[in-house]
Amino acid sequence: MSGKYAQRNAQDHHVIAKDDPLAISLLKEEHHIFRSLFDEAENADAKRLAAIARELCMRLSVHMTIEEEILYPALKPVLGDDEINEGIVEHQSGKRIVAELEQLDGTEDLFAAKVHVLGEETVHHIDEEDEDMFEDAKAAHASGKIDLDALGERLRARQAQLYDDIARTGETGKTSEAQPDEVERADRAVTGG
Ligand SMILES: [Fe+2]
Ligand SMILES: [Fe+2]
Repeated sequence: MSGKYAQRNAQDHHVIAKDDPLAISLLKEEHHIFRSLFDEAENADAKRLAAIARELCMRLSVHMTIEEEILYPALKPVLGDDEINEGIVEHQSGKRIVAELEQLDGTEDLFAAKVHVLGEETVHHIDEEDEDMFEDAKAAHASGKIDLDALGERLRARQAQLYDDIARTGETGKTSEAQPDEVERADRAVTGG
């Protein structure tokens, strides 16, 4: 099944290329899952939608955490602030909707609309990562400026740990994502305010 978002998984830079370093293939694989789940959400009945939303919230939280803890800080000195700041600000917006959804059980009037908007914003964000940030990162990897295979190992280990925490406690435990002052700086840089 391939809906409007998931069909992109087989196109252009969204495809997982044979020579993609581990950090890129690992994150693109998750982007594929997000697009498929958001497609599924569009046609789901209320009960199924609540289950899909729960899964998306968990997966997105872990994904944003490992990007902010490991990927973004490693790429910032190589790619410059702008691209990374934009990513951080988009994550903030995603996290706000995730936090709202986590307070709801799926019976509320706005539940489906919130999932829909989270889908639009998330797909915009992951498309940009695939097309711009990851392509720039791969060029830096090819020229020896960064090792995206080693970074991929760190992403994978941290991801496993976070899923483990969730399985044990229902929560992601302690994370070190972008700090409020960093988010504020990124926000100002992106909006020019
Ligand atoms: Fe991201
Ligand atoms: Fe991502």
